[in-house]
Amino acid sequence: MGRQGEVPLFLDVFVSVTVDDTNYASNGGTESNVEGPFYIPGAPLLQRPYELPRRGKEPGDVLFLSGIVRSTNGTALADAMLDMWQADAEGKYSHFDPGLPAYNLRGRFKTDAEGRFEVRTTAPSAYEIPKAGPTGRYLAALGRHAFRPAHFHFKLSHPDHEPLTTQVYFDGDPLLDSDVVGAMKQSLVVKVDRHEAEDDLAKKGLSIPYYTCSYDFILQPRVNR
Ligand code: BEZ
Ligand code: FE
Repeated sequence: MGRQGEVPLFLDVFVSVTVDDTNYASNGGTESNVEGPFYIPGAPLLQRPYELPRRGKEPGDVLFLSGIVRSTNGTALADAMLDMWQADAEGKYSHFDPGLPAYNLRGRFKTDAEGRFEVRTTAPSAYEIPKAGPTGRYLAALGRHAFRPAHFHFKLSHPDHEPLTTQVYFDGDPLLDSDVVGAMKQSLVVKVDRHEAEDDLAKKGLSIPYYTCSYDFILQPRVNR
């Protein structure tokens, strides 16, 4: 594993869930979830209306994610920062797949005065961890597949609140119950709605059907250590 540079991948697949569960009690806030190996700092700061950077002909369905960021006491949090990254419709992450432009499907954006956000992106696909190396061979020996269910990743931050690293998954994904990493949490699953009526398309200025989903995040007030 060491010679093939797969120690980080092996730890991300087999150990990171235990580290996350041990370190971060949810205490009434949104449950945390593993960061995984594909976070890149410094993603572009987006301007409204927010759209994650994508290729001219980005494959996949148009998906809008909206929601509110609140504190555990219910107060909406203005100017909370969401740093979001995801795989594309082929299950590939920019920076890790040489075919993709820098920061494709990665971006940072802030909530408005009411704590709300909406971002346009592309529906991600399930991601298959590399199978050719020792981690994949070990999974094969265990009789397990190497897929993660489709997901979005987030790091949320706000000056008076604890930072939160988490993910969002999609209802109906057949891989929800067999995540290779074992990270999926039911509290992080959203329902996805399809929109194809003419007035819905007009609202978004689109000529093709699109999908929407919504997730409200709850941050814990900062703990003085
Ligand atoms: C991911 O979320 O993409 C991921 C997490 C752990 C291991 C591999 C991938
Ligand atoms: Fe991921």
